[in-house]
Amino acid sequence: MAATSAATFSVASASSPCSRVSHLTHSKSFSIKFNPKSHLRNFNGLKSADSVICESQSSFFGNESCTALKGTFSSKAQKQTQRSYTHLQTNASYKVAILGAAGGIGQPLALLVKMSPLVSELNLYDIANVKGVAADLSHCNTPSKVSDFTGASELANCLKEVDVVVIPAGVPRKPGMTRDDLFNINANIVRTLIECVADNCPDAFIHIISNPVNSTVPIAAEVLKQKGVYDPKKLFGVTTLDVVRANTFLAQRKNLKLIDVDVPVVGGHAGITILPLLSRAKPSVSLTDEEVEELTLRIQNAGTEVVEAKAGAGSATLSMAYAAARFVESSLRALDGDSDVYECAYVESDLTDLPFFASRIKLGRDGVESVISSELQGLTEYEEKALEALKPELKASIEKGVAFAQKQTVAA
Ligand SMILES: NC(=O)c1ccc[n+]([C@@H]2O[C@H](COP(=O)([O-])OP(=O)(O)OC[C@H]3O[C@@H](n4cnc5c(N)ncnc54)[C@H](O)[C@@H]3O)[C@@H](O)[C@H]2O)c1
Repeated sequence: MAATSAATFSVASASSPCSRVSHLTHSKSFSIKFNPKSHLRNFNGLKSADSVICESQSSFFGNESCTALKGTFSSKAQKQTQRSYTHLQTNASYKVAILGAAGGIGQPLALLVKMSPLVSELNLYDIANVKGVAADLSHCNTPSKVSDFTGASELANCLKEVDVVVIPAGVPRKPGMTRDDLFNINANIVRTLIECVADNCPDAFIHIISNPVNSTVPIAAEVLKQKGVYDPKKLFGVTTLDVVRANTFLAQRKNLKLIDVDVPVVGGHAGITILPLLSRAKPSVSLTDEEVEELTLRIQNAGTEVVEAKAGAGSATLSMAYAAARFVESSLRALDGDSDVYECAYVESDLTDLPFFASRIKLGRDGVESVISSELQGLTEYEEKALEALKPELKASIEKGVAFAQKQTVAA
């Protein structure tokens, strides 16, 4: 799973993105190989470390993750506790909470996070149906302890001492629903959840998946400000799915080895606000104007492709879970001290005149360590125009979120 491939970036500090520019060489290759002959035996038994070969680093299994994974193979089972399920002792030490864990995204995301060797505790929260999801997942013999929390009265306990909170809670867009309908429902859900996050784990990394991300992230920021605990370096709108799609579609179009492809995607997370910078793709590829146009439109409308294929049975959940799990794993690697973690995300930013903007960021122990400014320099004419065109829509979405949050009264 490629976060990035070999690349050279200019970076600016998070506090002052454009003031301090240096050059970093960032190079990774990505795969963890399970010896095919003993693959199944190891997944059944998790006994032998020998068959796991970490070729290098990946978003899901970085060096540290691989070390931790090997460490778990010789671990011993632990006692079960009431309403929680402990399996193996492990070097992993991070606590992750998923809010909306019983949903279409929440369930596969919980499974993927359960596979992470960096996670020691996985707290699953929803307003209903989460007990069964946790019981089911708890039977997987991977290191983390899974606990379930149902309803508002259990939310505070779910969030205690959590390092990363992921929020896919809310409703996906359904036929007949206007964007305003979606906004009103999800804005209230995100506001309520973030109030509790502010009270119980204000230092956690917060990953917002609930749409419209262009507005829900500014809402979360306002709520955190009202609570006096806003740290812009730790609040992220998850746009990883746009990058995952861009990488996949470009690789397919140009017959590239998928694992090597890395396309930065900037702007926001809806329609024309999603701007893949195909001119900055690694490896560098030659594309006709028609190909750029066709790929850009496909990446921007990929969600609709899934909604139409599912024909009323939902929106993108599996690819979204995959993308969100990648962003969780990258965050955990950063928390764990990996000094070479880059992802695109929608964050508070002064790269442009918009207060929030998705771009490539460098993640560190304290969250956003720097934003990558160089990728917005030297854009093609097509990209420059698309960047200017997306700004009014993104600005309006940000303002809508801020206005919504400022109208509410937050309990101190
Ligand atoms: N960021 C992205 O790239 C991206 C991609 C796809 C979908 N999404 C968004 O993710 C969200 C979830 O999508 P889904 O397909 O999983 O929907 P879903 O309806 O299958 O699941 C949502 C879950 O949230 C729960 N929920 C509702 N209100 C809650 C509350 N107050 N507290 C806790 N949980 C609550 C529901 O019970 C349900 O289990 C939607 O807003 C969707 O638009 C984002």
